[in-house]
Amino acid sequence: MDNFSFYSPTCFVFGKDAESKVGACVKRFGGSRVLIHYGGGSAKRSGLLDRVRASLDKNGISYVELGGVKPNPRSGLVYEGIELCRAEKVDFILAVGGGSVIDSSKAVAAGTLYDGDFWDFYCGRRISEALPLGTVLTIAAAGSEGSPDSVITKEEGMLKRGASGDALRPKFSILNPALTQTLPPYQTAAGATDIIAHLYERYLTNTTEVEVTDRLIEALMLTMKHEAPRVIADPDNYDARANIMWAGMMAHNNAVGVGRSQDWNSHNIEHELSALYDCAHGAGLAVTMPAVFKYVMNHDVMRFAQVAVRVWGCDMDFAHPEKTALAGIEALKNFLKSIGMPVTFEELGAKKEDIPTLVNVLCHGNGRSGYIQGFVRLDEEDCRKIYESM
Ligand code: NZQ
Ligand code: ZN
Repeated sequence: MDNFSFYSPTCFVFGKDAESKVGACVKRFGGSRVLIHYGGGSAKRSGLLDRVRASLDKNGISYVELGGVKPNPRSGLVYEGIELCRAEKVDFILAVGGGSVIDSSKAVAAGTLYDGDFWDFYCGRRISEALPLGTVLTIAAAGSEGSPDSVITKEEGMLKRGASGDALRPKFSILNPALTQTLPPYQTAAGATDIIAHLYERYLTNTTEVEVTDRLIEALMLTMKHEAPRVIADPDNYDARANIMWAGMMAHNNAVGVGRSQDWNSHNIEHELSALYDCAHGAGLAVTMPAVFKYVMNHDVMRFAQVAVRVWGCDMDFAHPEKTALAGIEALKNFLKSIGMPVTFEELGAKKEDIPTLVNVLCHGNGRSGYIQGFVRLDEEDCRKIYESM
């Protein structure tokens, strides 16, 4: 196991009606003038926004609002949010929505306290401070409710890039699984796929002797394998949604990723797809993961065989471990298909003629020098072959 330091200060308030505590949470963490940031309308339609306002009112907290965050959130609204926070002297940001709303909120939180262009943070500049933020989560997926990360798309060039810093970790996150019951099945499945991807990206490591995190990741994968089909079959299943919601947080606050090298090639390859085609991030991952895994499998065939046996229930073929490894990747692909995800380039709406553009932005965008580095190093030729195999 590698050395690590792990800082995870978020207070999680979990369960039915948890959003009624949002005003008290903001107060506890020092907020008095809040920006409520939300998405395209689901939080309005469900009545959640009204309940959030009522809780803030009850606690004597004033607020301004900015809605309209799109999935794959854009830089334009972040600039607007920064201006608003400065003009209104906002001291706390409240994200009400999914990963996109939370990531946009994190960008506004860091940008408000920074003299330069907030996009600098998405080009590698260190984030040293940000306004405090809290979240009311409405979809189990990105894990942004517990992570130090934010992913934003810059409209010019449709560059989708991430920024990271402990200052972006939410002070609190309110997780009420019942809020996810209004999700369309496709979004529920895309969220489950993203959670599974966060687990695989950590599982694929070059660090040896990581039994504790291997086993924790496998437990979360088994949970997703069990619960995702239950919730697709019965969207109102609170208990299945509760397990998925906590698994989504556990998968990405990095408790199960510490002390080991991680992959993230499937995510990097996917981000170009959701940037260009505006597809759901999880749907893109359903297409990229099996393709990437097949391509890199021989780098450590026993790691792929291990997950195939322990999670997907494949038989171990000691004479031909590559057969076991491949069976595990096929089992993952079939599983994703069974919950309603696309598994080919065409099903995602992607086009073969765009592959040179995808590869170019992936390997050269934002200061990259011709390759991406994860479990293995993938150069332009590798990435082209992977996109072509989808
Ligand atoms: O905008 P509204 O109307 O709320 O609709 C949203 C959106 O259309 C809808 N939705 C959310 N909760 C709902 C609901 N509809 C009905 N009922 C509810 N309860 O679902 C759609 C998707 O929402 P979005 O926030 O985009 O989903 P998700 O949480 O999957 O976030 C995706 C974004 O997170 C980034 C992705 O790249 C993508 O941009 N990621 C962020 C990470 C992080 N910050 O740590 C890590 C991830 O790997 C990921 O890259
Ligand atoms: Zn993800």
